[in-house]
Amino acid sequence: MRIAHRIQQLAESATLAVSAKAAKMKAEGIDVISLAAGEPDFDTPEHIKEVAIQALRNGETKYPKPASGLPAAKQAACEKLKRVNGLDYDPSQIIITAGAKNAVHMTFMSLLNPGDEVILPVPYWVSYPEQIKLAGAVPVFVHGDEVHGFEITVGQLEGAVTEKTRMLVLNSPSNPGGFTYSPHKIREIAEFIRGRDIIVLSDEIYDQLVYEGAEHLSIAATGEDAYAKTVTVSGGSKTYAMTGWRIGYAAGPPAVIKAMAKLQSQRTSGAATFTQLALVEALTGDQSCVKDMRTEFAKRAAHMHQRLCAMPGISCVQPTGAFYTFPNCLGSYERLGVSGSIAFAQRLLEEAHVAVVPGIAFGNDAHVRVSFATSMERIDAGLDRMERWLKS
Ligand SMILES: Cc1ncc(COP(=O)(O)O)c(C=O)c1O
Repeated sequence: MRIAHRIQQLAESATLAVSAKAAKMKAEGIDVISLAAGEPDFDTPEHIKEVAIQALRNGETKYPKPASGLPAAKQAACEKLKRVNGLDYDPSQIIITAGAKNAVHMTFMSLLNPGDEVILPVPYWVSYPEQIKLAGAVPVFVHGDEVHGFEITVGQLEGAVTEKTRMLVLNSPSNPGGFTYSPHKIREIAEFIRGRDIIVLSDEIYDQLVYEGAEHLSIAATGEDAYAKTVTVSGGSKTYAMTGWRIGYAAGPPAVIKAMAKLQSQRTSGAATFTQLALVEALTGDQSCVKDMRTEFAKRAAHMHQRLCAMPGISCVQPTGAFYTFPNCLGSYERLGVSGSIAFAQRLLEEAHVAVVPGIAFGNDAHVRVSFATSMERIDAGLDRMERWLKS
């Protein structure tokens, strides 16, 4: 069977590949400790589940109308964006999607033409380059310097921009970096795009998961110019532990949202109706679950960071957001006899039974992603094994 070129050139998600191998080992009876998770270990809060259950009982089982999202869900997204991000959006500027991944993809599909360039800071979330390529466009990688917490600089942006540059992707707090751009840096980037014909895709799905005194600033909130050029993406997955519900949203200029809505009407017909109603509860109901999860993640972040820094050959930027650390393991490669992050992660899984994600999937072969979206007990057990393995 001949498979289309666009799929042949698509990389498989390395994050999913590692989880699949770890799952296979587990099925064989091996006690694998997974520090590879890209989703909270917490269950969806009860009050959110309850709304979906009631919605199903009330017969909310039909196509969502309109396909761009239920009015109540759009209104709830507006309320959250105002409350948390200080952003004023009209419901006509919102689209509700089956997951933020979908919102990111539709943003690229709606705005990029073949040959357009997209500036993509490294490390990046695995799906960005592949989705950019699916839209026929070209990712232009800009490597954030580890010494500066992986933040890219305006000087680097100036070096990367060409007449073909159409878009800049920002993801703060970051997957996989676990870092958060300072408000100062966000303002500098906003200043850089002022007067340029560049759209920003700001993926803020981890915006409420910030620690260590870090502050999240939405680039769209920095001023009128940035607001008019930004598509802000978020969703229920990370903050409300709703990964399996597949619910996200995007907010942006009316023309862009309209284009995305047109695309959505021909692709998925929108997110599941009862899931959208659950999102309304997540965004506007009791928010204590967010504080509880953030408090727990903050504790784990500090603990994991401190333990990784004490391991031979490892250095690690302090995580200030999301639920990932991104340690640099280069100092251990020679002694282990490994040439890159795939071999490192493979050996760690096979010999110490700890699953992490190779950094090459995010553009940095010196690193691996170690997630703290698991209990403190499992974190310590996994890190004990990793430390013993590195010292052996
Ligand atoms: C940066 C980033 N954006 C988007 C997503 C996708 O989220 P969703 O589950 O809403 O599709 C993820 C999930 O891993 C992510 O890390």
